[in-house]
Amino acid sequence: MIDSRPIGVFDSGLGGLTVAKEIFRLMPNERIIYLGDTARVPYGSKSEETIRRFGLQDARVLKDMDVKLLIAACNTVSSVAMDYLQEHIKDIPVIGVVLPGARAAALRSAEKRVGVIGTAATIRSGSYARAINNIDPGIKVYGKPCPLFVPLVEEGLIDSDITRMAVQHYLYEMVDLGVDCLILGCTHYPILMEVIQSTVGNRIQLVDSALWTAKEAQNILQAMGMSAGEDAAGLQASKFLVSDITPNFETVAETLLGTPLPGIEKVPVEELEGKQP
Ligand code: DGL
Repeated sequence: MIDSRPIGVFDSGLGGLTVAKEIFRLMPNERIIYLGDTARVPYGSKSEETIRRFGLQDARVLKDMDVKLLIAACNTVSSVAMDYLQEHIKDIPVIGVVLPGARAAALRSAEKRVGVIGTAATIRSGSYARAINNIDPGIKVYGKPCPLFVPLVEEGLIDSDITRMAVQHYLYEMVDLGVDCLILGCTHYPILMEVIQSTVGNRIQLVDSALWTAKEAQNILQAMGMSAGEDAAGLQASKFLVSDITPNFETVAETLLGTPLPGIEKVPVEELEGKQP
């Protein structure tokens, strides 16, 4: 069976484009409607109540656009609001990025020592540790918020001394703790993969939640007979919505998606705020 409806992907801002990028790579025919709440980003420093409210508003905008699968690409939303989203959105599958990343790490950690890096809210929530310990209670999980990484990526400081210093500052602790797997638990972190890998060394395997989430989406669509047909136009037919057209969005979006955005439309914040439970 073929389902030509788009996949809905949302994030607090443009970071979720790293998940969109993996979806297009794995499933080039799939169309996406992406929503980035650029007017209210960041979510990672906000309270759980606000993150839940914003997350559900984002999800509802996409649900009302007749998407076949909804992906919370934001680690922060996935960490604190998954149950809430699934409670309120019933008739299509809703997935986040935490479970796919947690499963991949649990399978890979031979020494049963996993590190997780993300926003303050993601680490505070303990979401990855819970998901990993549901799979294997014997795995030790160490979390570390790395709040400087998002602005560094958005400033385009990918391969720079200041970024290397920030990576050392946050991650030497993980090396000392002897983790053998490190989950990149934030939308922006895959962009720093090379600098992180060269800093922590090859003994530590990096787990990219964005990649495993795209694989999970592919599995769900295949299992439910809901993949797009060969004639669907993927990226070129996709829609990119933001709640604020910020001055440097094109550059930031290209860094995160790996290619220029084909176009962008604005959804006013008032429209998001109108989507209450
Ligand atoms: N998208 C967020 C995440 O993956 C990072 C940016 C933010 O704090 O909103 O957690």
